[in-house]
Amino acid sequence: MSQTTLGDSKPKHSTKADEMATKQRDISVAAFFEKNRHLLGFDNPRKALLTTIKEGVDNSLDACEEANILPELIVEIIELSENRFRVIMEDNGPGIVKEQVPKIFARLLYGSKFHKLAQSRGQQGIGISASVMYGHLTTGKPAKITSKIGPNHPAHYYELHIDTDKNKPIISKDEEKEWNHKDHGTRVELDLEGSYNKGKQSVDQYIKETAITNPHCTIIYTNPKAEQIIFARATDTMPEKAKEIQPHPYGIELGMLIRMIASTETRTLQSFLTTEFSRVGAGTAKEICEHAKLLPQTKPRSINREMAEKIMMGIKKTKIISPPTDCISPITEELLEKGLRKEINAEFYTAVTRPPAVYRGNPFVIEVGIAYGGDQPGDKPVSLMRYANRVPLQYSQGAGAVAKAVSATKWKSYGLQQSGSNIPTGPMTIAVHIASVWVPFTSESKEAIASYPEILKEMKLAIQECGRKLGSYVNKKKKVGFELKKRGYIEKYIPHVSQALIELLGLKDSEEESLNDHLKEILEEQRGKVEEVGKIDNPDFDEEFANIGKEDPEDEEEDLEEENERS
Ligand SMILES: Nc1ncnc2c1ncn2[C@@H]1O[C@H](COP(=O)(O)OP(=O)(O)OP(=O)(O)O)[C@@H](O)[C@H]1O
Ligand SMILES: [Mg+2]
Repeated sequence: MSQTTLGDSKPKHSTKADEMATKQRDISVAAFFEKNRHLLGFDNPRKALLTTIKEGVDNSLDACEEANILPELIVEIIELSENRFRVIMEDNGPGIVKEQVPKIFARLLYGSKFHKLAQSRGQQGIGISASVMYGHLTTGKPAKITSKIGPNHPAHYYELHIDTDKNKPIISKDEEKEWNHKDHGTRVELDLEGSYNKGKQSVDQYIKETAITNPHCTIIYTNPKAEQIIFARATDTMPEKAKEIQPHPYGIELGMLIRMIASTETRTLQSFLTTEFSRVGAGTAKEICEHAKLLPQTKPRSINREMAEKIMMGIKKTKIISPPTDCISPITEELLEKGLRKEINAEFYTAVTRPPAVYRGNPFVIEVGIAYGGDQPGDKPVSLMRYANRVPLQYSQGAGAVAKAVSATKWKSYGLQQSGSNIPTGPMTIAVHIASVWVPFTSESKEAIASYPEILKEMKLAIQECGRKLGSYVNKKKKVGFELKKRGYIEKYIPHVSQALIELLGLKDSEEESLNDHLKEILEEQRGKVEEVGKIDNPDFDEEFANIGKEDPEDEEEDLEEENERS
């Protein structure tokens, strides 16, 4: 007799659960991100164009810096038809070996930066392959990649796209190519659906800000209007090379520790601790083992989950010095302020680089710069400029740690208006940079920085440091303004006083002028000299440069409203 399910006369193997079981399938990471492309920054045509350029440029700069090459980038956007663009990004970096090209450009979650703790622009191994996927999805055209690794090597040319079901490359062309004008480098050419606009969230603005925060690079940029802008490098000195570090024990979580133990090549617990972590010498390792009640000679292969948990306890109980901080390469106060001076014509500038701090075991440095007054509107919320590892962040301004830290600061004491815990109002731009071996973004599209308490704290401290200097400037300006007003009143009466003196003392009318001068001198002597404050004296300001990427202010407001609605 065949078995039946409750209230059903169908045989057992065709229950609802059986039916559902037939539908279970693996999900390829590429198929996942194809459906969720908004997570990667491809949620609208305008942003898609910016994200594509950003992924390419960030990669080129990372590659050049890793190879110690002063970057020279060519970025070109060609409008093919309405909403369809060709993007060309070429660098003079180390190039990519032939076998790696297909996986790098047509496999999601493949890269060289994810597994190491070193300051770089990219970190996830998604960026450029996601752009290739988006380009193919919207135009059906493959990506065209050329790369050359040295003067005596041929250049390799590929046409490829992603098989999203398998997250694997499909190569439609693979050949050697003449590429004589370059000894080494990589050229990426993608067709995609996009939209080109000017404004705060534009490609022009991204390239300009990238040039400011990376003064060692040259970018030759041609936008779809065929306007070519050459951002020539301002210095031949490469930024301090970012050193790779091992994870710090305090930042480790149990699952990660178990994984590290499973894949280690070391033979004892002690050598595992000293080689795979930063700041753990023999003495510290022994102490951790003691606190964990495990022998330093324990073989990593024999360590089970309970023992791993004991190691976690041991780490907690042991005092371990903070991670090394020479692995961070900040923009520096001087360059941050210089960048602001070039872009904004203000009265007062200041910048602060905080000492390194640590979140979840990862070292980071916060830098803040302020430009106050001058040409900036006084009745609008202050402008924010955000950077992570020298990359400008142009979207999701209201989300993440920067907006939180700025709103949480009490700006009234620094002379700005602020209602409640909102972004203050006033003629000011605040630039905030986080440099870290791992920047905690709130999503894969790398738009906003997660609000770890340590990061928030450092941001607030840096803002307050700048704020205090701003406060004393604003106060001084107020005092001077008040004094000038007062003097104005007194000066108004000087001719009347002179007239009275002429009458009282029986002087000649012709002496009025010299009397006026005398009285002015007495006034000056009595009240002291007034310092000149509030004058714009900024030879670094470059109006033509500052206007790059600017659009009609009305369009700009519309764009911001649109973004606010979306977020
Ligand atoms: N222009 C280039 N020159 C040399 N190597 C490159 C270049 N572009 C990419 N790569 C290599 O390809 C890898 C994958 O790049 P991809 O942009 O997908 O990821 P990522 O930069 O590691 O991280 P993210 O997803 O955060 O951008 C990089 O880690 C880098 O090693
Ligand atoms: Mg990248």
